[in-house]
Amino acid sequence: MHTFPEGFVWGAATSSYQIEGAWDEDGKGESIWDRFCHTSGKVDNSDTGDVACDHYHRWPEDVALMKEIGLQAYRFSISWPRILPQGRGAINLAGLDFYDRLMDALLEAGITPFATLYHWDLPQTLQDHGGWPARPTAEAFVEYADVVSRRLGDRVKHWITLNEPFVSAFLGYLEGSHAPGHTDLDEMLAAAHHLLLAHGWAVPVIRRNSPQARVGIVLNLGPCIPASPSVADRAAAWREDGILNRWYLNPLAARGYPADIVQHYGRPMDFVQANDLETIAVPLDFVGLNYYTRRIVRSNEVPEAKNLPRTVFPNREHTAMGWEVYPEGLYELLGRLHFEYRFPAIYITENGAAYADQVGSDGRVDDPQRVAYFKAHLKQAARAIRAGVPLRGYFAWSLLDNFEWAYGYSKRFGLIYVDFSTQQRILKSSAHWYRRVIAANAVVD
Ligand code: FCB
Repeated sequence: MHTFPEGFVWGAATSSYQIEGAWDEDGKGESIWDRFCHTSGKVDNSDTGDVACDHYHRWPEDVALMKEIGLQAYRFSISWPRILPQGRGAINLAGLDFYDRLMDALLEAGITPFATLYHWDLPQTLQDHGGWPARPTAEAFVEYADVVSRRLGDRVKHWITLNEPFVSAFLGYLEGSHAPGHTDLDEMLAAAHHLLLAHGWAVPVIRRNSPQARVGIVLNLGPCIPASPSVADRAAAWREDGILNRWYLNPLAARGYPADIVQHYGRPMDFVQANDLETIAVPLDFVGLNYYTRRIVRSNEVPEAKNLPRTVFPNREHTAMGWEVYPEGLYELLGRLHFEYRFPAIYITENGAAYADQVGSDGRVDDPQRVAYFKAHLKQAARAIRAGVPLRGYFAWSLLDNFEWAYGYSKRFGLIYVDFSTQQRILKSSAHWYRRVIAANAVVD
């Protein structure tokens, strides 16, 4: 049996835009995701987060369900435009009150809150002033972090500044598949820098407002494997590693931006000002790892590579996202974070899988593939702990089926099934299994 150390934290995660709904209620301002979803052609099936899981109204039921699963911790995010409808300046007290009540209910239920300040729902007004490519957005983030940590800092002791800055910058400003849907390399690079800068500036502010706080950042990382042993594919894989992983890990670990990737982009990077890199390298209490899959990379530049198979491991399983199930990648990354980058503590802040879940005729939702996914990954997590990695906790993605960004409601990641037409919640068999894992503090069958 794979047993976890005493005090290991078991949780589940969500984010504001994906579950809350109430997109324009009680004084909330518009976010870039509201705008993006309300623009036709951006999201599958024209889905929006207008209602989502209606968590803004149904949170007492959701906290009760967390308790039923036995969660010890809950990672959620705070909607910036619910607190500061214009991004900075006037505070919407009703927004703060919402999270205030949620914190009290969580603590009452014995569930430790892990609050993420930014999970992609930037106030639209700030986007209108340039968004993340503009430096003042980072200043606005610090003001927002100050407001929130003053109000909740007595009860929230685990703070996450940003969720996945790679995704915010790359998908939002270069690929265009996420809000605000831009496709500009210079914007992407400036956005990534200002996100990291916002993080670095906010950490001491949160620590000042929230005594004994533990503050970290969440990164989505993935091993990048060459599709063949060719020199070209290996070089391409290392470059992909630089774009996805090292571009964030290195500056956070006081190593600056990776020189090979700076050269690859070949841009002036003139948005980097004196002391920025010192700011970004502020020591952290922990780093959060979001892990789903790996990337198999081939070089497109090499003509002879064309006839090679697309992936070296074609027979592996994939989830409904088309993502390969590769649990060993979790072990590899945990080891890298500790042994190579020396982060003092690590949480797995997201890990999970989408499958096409259905309600059976008996009213149950049976999801054996998800249980198998969790099990395989938890075994790798336990293996990393045995190897000496200071892994402190695990958060399943996600508590609830929810709005999966550009895929809308077509991808279900929840431990809890949500019928989006009635808002009925049903614990999937994975939730029942997870309850037994938590109770045993071990991977059970
Ligand atoms: C991560 C996001 C999370 C969710 C999962 C599937 O990149 O942080 O919101 O969409 O992927």
